[in-house]
Amino acid sequence: MSEGIYVLNNIREGGFPFPSVVLVAGSAGTGKTTFSMQFLFAGAERGEQGLFFTTLSEPTHWMLQYASTFSFVKKEHFGNLVKYVDLGPILDRPADEILKYINDRIAEIMPQRIVIDPVTIIGNIIKENYRKFLFDLTNSLKSWQAVTLLTGEVRPGEMYPVEVSYAADSVILLSLKAEGNARRKYLEVLKMRGTDHRTGAYPVSITREDGFVVLRARF
Ligand SMILES: Nc1ncnc2c1ncn2[C@@H]1O[C@H](COP(=O)(O)OP(=O)(O)OP(=O)(O)O)[C@@H](O)[C@H]1O
Ligand SMILES: [Mg+2]
Repeated sequence: MSEGIYVLNNIREGGFPFPSVVLVAGSAGTGKTTFSMQFLFAGAERGEQGLFFTTLSEPTHWMLQYASTFSFVKKEHFGNLVKYVDLGPILDRPADEILKYINDRIAEIMPQRIVIDPVTIIGNIIKENYRKFLFDLTNSLKSWQAVTLLTGEVRPGEMYPVEVSYAADSVILLSLKAEGNARRKYLEVLKMRGTDHRTGAYPVSITREDGFVVLRARF
């Protein structure tokens, strides 16, 4: 089985090391939010509780509208097995209060699958305390019985947000590469704790029906 398919099966079957923290890194439009939504809705289909934190202050109806274009998103899970929390309004508070807020929501909802999308926004806001915040965040996330995806925006010239990668158990890189006039999407596993994964970027596409699909491996 190709590594790319292995990763997508993990999304569906919850096969990431448990508990663990996974960085899903990529520049704009590479599919970080879609990947994360797919992870939560696949969990919901298995009866697992999911919790989606947005740092972007995207209102719930916007998110619902975005998500409803995908057929893997089942509306009945929204607000139930997939809960949505906006961190935007509290990001001007001190780092330890942000952490406490996140932990309090997790304690209320007790999810098995958590997403923070994108975590890098918190870094842009709290700046100098960011490394310690990430260390404390990932430590506390691992004390819950959950797999957490932290999505990370990639700045021009960098491959992935390094400070987040140090704190994460696994790193998945989503990318877009120009091929002629087209841009093709890729998925690559850069590290996966506890597995002997092969390296290489797998071509993927995002479809309405299935979300992420790995195209026939060409390597
Ligand atoms: N309904 C859909 N059907 C197929 N592909 C879609 C659909 N909706 C979005 N996409 C694809 O998903 C991509 C955007 O994905 P997404 O919003 O998950 O990226 P992102 O990495 O979260 O971006 P950003 O950094 O802007 O938040 C688009 O480029 C588009 O190709
Ligand atoms: Mg996004």
